[in-house]
Amino acid sequence: MKRLVLAAVLTAATGLTGALAQTYPTRQITMVVPFAAGGPTDTIARILAEGMRQALGQTVIIENTTGAAGSIGVGRVARAAPDGYTIGIGHWSTHVVNAAVYPLQYDVLNDFEPISLVANNPQLVVSKNDVPAKDLKELIAWIKANGDKVTQGTAGAGSASHIAGIYFQKLTGTTFRFIPYRGAGPVMQDMLAGHIDLNFDQAANSLPQVRAGQIRAYAVTAKTRLAVAPDIPTVDEAGVPGFYIAVWHGLWAPKKTPKAVMDKLVAATRAALANPLVQKRLADLGQEIPALDQQTPEALRAHHKAELEKWVPLIKAANIKLE
Ligand code: MLT
Repeated sequence: MKRLVLAAVLTAATGLTGALAQTYPTRQITMVVPFAAGGPTDTIARILAEGMRQALGQTVIIENTTGAAGSIGVGRVARAAPDGYTIGIGHWSTHVVNAAVYPLQYDVLNDFEPISLVANNPQLVVSKNDVPAKDLKELIAWIKANGDKVTQGTAGAGSASHIAGIYFQKLTGTTFRFIPYRGAGPVMQDMLAGHIDLNFDQAANSLPQVRAGQIRAYAVTAKTRLAVAPDIPTVDEAGVPGFYIAVWHGLWAPKKTPKAVMDKLVAATRAALANPLVQKRLADLGQEIPALDQQTPEALRAHHKAELEKWVPLIKAANIKLE
């Protein structure tokens, strides 16, 4: 008798989940951004959210849950109900580097359902305008002459900007101090105010300020120049060959989010990435949109897994200390 009742309850529950998945979404969806508002990840998320709203017929609101180089916001998504109403954006450092640096309470690969890769952008080597250097070689000489008086703002220990700073120090034999913030947005505010000397910052964050002449760019951390900023040399051209860093962004849902709901989230993400206005806004920010065959849960999972295998041993060997 008990078994019959249990079977009936389970069938009802599965039926209900099925029905719920069919009618999904019936209310607004929350996209968790693990960094402060105004930064590159927040900017990309807001552009995507607008495109997804059109495809899903429901508002996608942005919730900035920050701290510990994004690991707090990512944890919020890992613990969220797997019902499709909470999803999260993240990137190379939140879903790869943090796994090597922080004692995380979740598994960055297996506690999430991958939705899609959404954007990829290299970093720019930038400084506040009154740093007396006109190219990367002069910047390195200036840093060497000023040592620990020089400050680099980071989005937290283990963030993409922090890892890039450590890598740059190793490649150039320089030292400077790391000042942690809750995101690249607040770093930019303090650089504009002259409180921070330099950063290795995602193009999405720095390009608008470079174009406005508010900060100076010395190089792009890629093999080729940015189509939207052909005047900025590559690190190879500027004198730090091989200093390549690309920050890829992806979208995830909590583990066990039903397949029917995932299918709608994947379709909405692809629709957003195919939207000409979304494409233009991301391209203007130096974002590379992944090819169609890369806009799948399988492609994100495969890329994520390969990046973990490549970077985690390297970062552990670098023995990065949390501030
Ligand atoms: C941000 O949005 O603040 C960045 O993604 C942080 C970072 O560069 O790691």
